[in-house]
Amino acid sequence: MPKLMDTTNRTMISEFVLLGLSSTWELEVFFFFIFLLAYAAIVAGNLLIVVTVTFDSHLHSTPMYFLLGNLSFLDLIISTITTPKMITDFLSEKKTISLWGCMAQMFFLHFLGGGEMTLLIVMAVDRYIAICKPLHYTTIMNRRVLTGSVLLSWGVGFVHTMSQMVFTITLPFCGPNVIDNIFCDLPLVLKLACTETYVLELLVIADSGLLSFVCFVLLLISYTVILVTVRQRSSGGLSKALSTLSAHITVVTLFFGPCIFIYAWPFSSFSVDKFLSVFYSVITPLLNPIIYTLRNQEMKSAMNRLRKQHVSSRLSL
Ligand SMILES: *[C@@H]1O[C@H](CO)[C@@H](O)[C@H](O)[C@H]1NC(C)=O
Repeated sequence: MPKLMDTTNRTMISEFVLLGLSSTWELEVFFFFIFLLAYAAIVAGNLLIVVTVTFDSHLHSTPMYFLLGNLSFLDLIISTITTPKMITDFLSEKKTISLWGCMAQMFFLHFLGGGEMTLLIVMAVDRYIAICKPLHYTTIMNRRVLTGSVLLSWGVGFVHTMSQMVFTITLPFCGPNVIDNIFCDLPLVLKLACTETYVLELLVIADSGLLSFVCFVLLLISYTVILVTVRQRSSGGLSKALSTLSAHITVVTLFFGPCIFIYAWPFSSFSVDKFLSVFYSVITPLLNPIIYTLRNQEMKSAMNRLRKQHVSSRLSL
């Protein structure tokens, strides 16, 4: 019974072993190339959005794009916390991560994940005001409110991650140290602690699972209210609103769905959890630029404007 062992004569572990996605070499090589491509696309796509929104004055002064630029920035960092390590792990025989590397991964994952959730809610509120209160839109969503909501999302992320991590970093780990996942995340790491973590597990369920669930329901309700409002007015705006909102709903479902599944039933050891982890760390950051940008005329013309400016400034030198 390791849980009852004397604290003085047990060896503390200093690193964890990640099992990764598969155990056959061919599949590992296959995943290596797939995820390398995906990560390159994530960096390129999200960086393109951040640069375009930052340097195009029209987009930067449009609330929706201002928020979108910040969402892309968060996506970029979230996937950078997990993906590069995961990619190099595919090719390495021993997939280890140090105890502190593991803690840092969990800290930043929940920091930025909590921030992203908040930002998605702010974006839904933004759409609600734009569509349901169009006359007051510019006065409500002014620069101060926008900057405030970005700061708020970082604040919420910080409080969210700290509330779980202050307890997690004090846990003793004395083996086993094998994590059946592609990166460190709270449910699996807590299970490895050689002490009673029941209360902490409940905290994670409430703090991550319940929170994602409530946010998700709130978002779906707000989208429904928007659609109903648009329909009542029914001046041809429905199809446009539908196309904007379906993009939002897709992203929100892909992000929250796996989170709810992973954190609301965290300790029932579903082995699908590691595949779901791929969703919010790779698929969502990859899809955001595709969904929001490539189908978006305003974004495309802003990119063209920037390219032309760049070319003409180089010609005039
Ligand atoms: C994100 O928010 C910050 C501050 O609120 C702002 O200065 C910045 O331009 C935004 N980033 C993008 C890419 O829109």
